[in-house]
Amino acid sequence: MRKPIIVGNWKMNKTIAETKAFVEAVDSSVSDSADWGIATPYLALQTAKSLASNLIVAAENCHFEESGAFTGEISTSMLKEIGVEWVILGHSERRQYFGETNATVNAKTLKVLDAGMTPIVCVGETLEEYEAGSTKDVCKTQTVAAFKDVCPKCIEKVVIAYEPVWAIGTGKTATNEIAQDVCAYIRGVVAELYGQEAADKVRIQYGGSVKPEGLKTLLEQPDIDGALVGGASLLEDSYIAMIENLG
Ligand code: PGA
Repeated sequence: MRKPIIVGNWKMNKTIAETKAFVEAVDSSVSDSADWGIATPYLALQTAKSLASNLIVAAENCHFEESGAFTGEISTSMLKEIGVEWVILGHSERRQYFGETNATVNAKTLKVLDAGMTPIVCVGETLEEYEAGSTKDVCKTQTVAAFKDVCPKCIEKVVIAYEPVWAIGTGKTATNEIAQDVCAYIRGVVAELYGQEAADKVRIQYGGSVKPEGLKTLLEQPDIDGALVGGASLLEDSYIAMIENLG
């Protein structure tokens, strides 16, 4: 049985004070129905981590080198020092605006796993690719590239987030059928690489305009094990509504 995992991706939102208010309001509502988390900007991680007893606290990115001349970057050791064990990698906004490539996503995935941390690796097609019918090809290419040289033992702990770029922040969520079809396909790609047993352990999230009211039926899909949630994770009430809707 794969335990669902729902993570709020805050992107470049919330000050330290706002983070404190959020965690104080939400953390005690977290239930055992799923693993619940928030990914915050670097600056608020320590505050979130120090206040959260139940919420997973994740970074939204990290560098693949341990240290050095990489102005503006953050290493896994820095994250680990403050107790952060989870990192989102390869989000489409990082691919689109910050030059993230399949190769850097792979390097980061290897680094995060080597550090004993857990990556949430994002894959997904653009609107153009969706309309051209190449969703599965794109997801396969990104998945195979992200996990190049990842050891079989490590693969079971990774989380994959399938996020169609056209559904992110647009209010246009993929139907449950589309999301299930692609998540099942991605699981098949992992099975091709690592065998069915390992693939059955990997948790695959859907992300893209997920709302509290849609979460329950989304998670009823056999290959969807959670959600990566942007906008709907930012307000305390909306986050608590997600927890309550899952029961
Ligand atoms: P959204 O963002 O829920 O606001 O569409 C999802 C994401 O980018 O992870």
